[in-house]
Amino acid sequence: MRVVILPTADDVAHYCAEQIIHQIQQKSNTVLGLATGSTPVASYQKLIQACSKKEVSFAKVSSFNLDEYIGLESTHPQSYRNFMNQELFNHIDIKFENTHVPDGLSPDFEKSCQAYESLILQKGGVDLQLLGIGENGHIGFNEPSSSLNSRTRVKTLSPQTVANNARFFKVGETQPQLAVTMGIGTIMDAKKVVLLATGSQKKQAVANLIEGSISAFSPASILQMHPKTMVIIDESAAELLALNDYYLHIEDVQIKLSKHKNV
Ligand code: PGA
Repeated sequence: MRVVILPTADDVAHYCAEQIIHQIQQKSNTVLGLATGSTPVASYQKLIQACSKKEVSFAKVSSFNLDEYIGLESTHPQSYRNFMNQELFNHIDIKFENTHVPDGLSPDFEKSCQAYESLILQKGGVDLQLLGIGENGHIGFNEPSSSLNSRTRVKTLSPQTVANNARFFKVGETQPQLAVTMGIGTIMDAKKVVLLATGSQKKQAVANLIEGSISAFSPASILQMHPKTMVIIDESAAELLALNDYYLHIEDVQIKLSKHKNV
């Protein structure tokens, strides 16, 4: 696991956008796994800027989102399909038909979840999966106690997640308690994972992810088993890391190595 600690949330967004742009420059038909929530928004803004300056094109890119609320129309302001359209897809040159978000209104979730998994495989699998992390350590909507081998399925949101996400819903608006989410096994199949966390409210979840025991109680901790995961965090989210200085030192060495290939 590579741990990149940067001074600010803006630095995290910049670094993350660079990773995604680099990925697409290496493989123009990249399959991206995308996330919603507040954390990735700043990275999406950097991607929009880069696309408008023609530094990157999403023309051949496909995307699969992690999750969707059950019971919201795709046009509902709080649906994750709407979020993605507003925050990213409407502003870049990706083909709408190449963007995929789980169906939160499926008449048969078992079938539609399997179809989502099959479509990911058909596209060759996710090349780069972007993740946020919940304060309770969830990735996607894989809440604590989710099977570490789980596949795309329906999950009941934890009271903490419902409370954290209440800020997005208007007073009196019905907030879903269920969601469809890629499973932890689905996420682990991605060739690369980039997880973002900013702000001190994430410091415990980040410490559990990087330095805790692997446990379904802290679903993100399974990423310790992933061969290519990069965790990009700001200093506030890194506050509880016991090996903070070591992670900074590794990055320093990496930078020196990339400048002097013969070191
Ligand atoms: P946030 O959500 O980016 O809004 O903090 C992250 C998550 O719940 O995965």
